[in-house]
Amino acid sequence: MSYMLKLRIWRGDASGGEIKDYPVEVSDGEVVLDAIHRVQASQAGDLAVRWNCKAGKCGSCSAEVNGRPRLMCMCRLSDFEEDEVITVTPMRAFPVIRDLVTDVSYNYEKAKELPAFAPPERDPDGKRRMQQIDVERGQECRKCIECFLCQNTCHVVRDHEDNKPAFAGPRFFLRYAELDMHPLDTHDRRALAQDAAGLGMCNITKCCTEVCPEGIKITDNAIIPLKERVVDRKFDPLVWLGSKIGVR
Ligand code: SF4
Ligand code: F3S
Ligand code: FES
Repeated sequence: MSYMLKLRIWRGDASGGEIKDYPVEVSDGEVVLDAIHRVQASQAGDLAVRWNCKAGKCGSCSAEVNGRPRLMCMCRLSDFEEDEVITVTPMRAFPVIRDLVTDVSYNYEKAKELPAFAPPERDPDGKRRMQQIDVERGQECRKCIECFLCQNTCHVVRDHEDNKPAFAGPRFFLRYAELDMHPLDTHDRRALAQDAAGLGMCNITKCCTEVCPEGIKITDNAIIPLKERVVDRKFDPLVWLGSKIGVR
């Protein structure tokens, strides 16, 4: 069954813009991205929208639907009443390029600041070994699709552009935690996470976890353990001494 959706879309660019009405026919079972594509095909050929997989896996189609950060391809129209107005706006924490497309390069800059995985020499038989439990611990972190919805939502940068240089954000705390808990990583990332990445600016509001489309428990399983490890390091005299003489 089809019906007319009261769709509104933000149109504009870095110099400014406005929300415009695009009533469009939609069908049961469709998602917000379907409606956007139909508007693009029938009413606004120049509407800019970033997407790729339409399966919730590429992380490209992030936007805000009625103010809530969502993947447009996973946002079912059936979650809304048929007569409800649906307003789609670009992610607020990043500069707009055009319409629904934002410049997410802040995230790539933060990724560059994070040292890559650094394993030790191989064992004499040419292998590297780790416990199965350590393999499993990292799996949740590796589910990240880099949609940056958590980065967009975190209040530390959402309304405070000036915090960006000092704050890596939840997606990267997830990566810091994954690598710091990896038994084969030789970097000690705790000081870096605390100082350069601004872990201390996170006050555990958990908004990042609420919007993660992969259901990653960013706060409970990454940020809080990472904060605990930073504190352990700071207050454990043996760890402190080890760091001074170059022993981890
Ligand atoms: Fe997206 Fe979740 Fe990864 Fe954040 S942690 S970038 S919300 S998938
Ligand atoms: Fe931000 Fe998540 Fe911390 S929303 S304040 S990074 S718990
Ligand atoms: Fe790939 Fe939505 S289009 S996650």
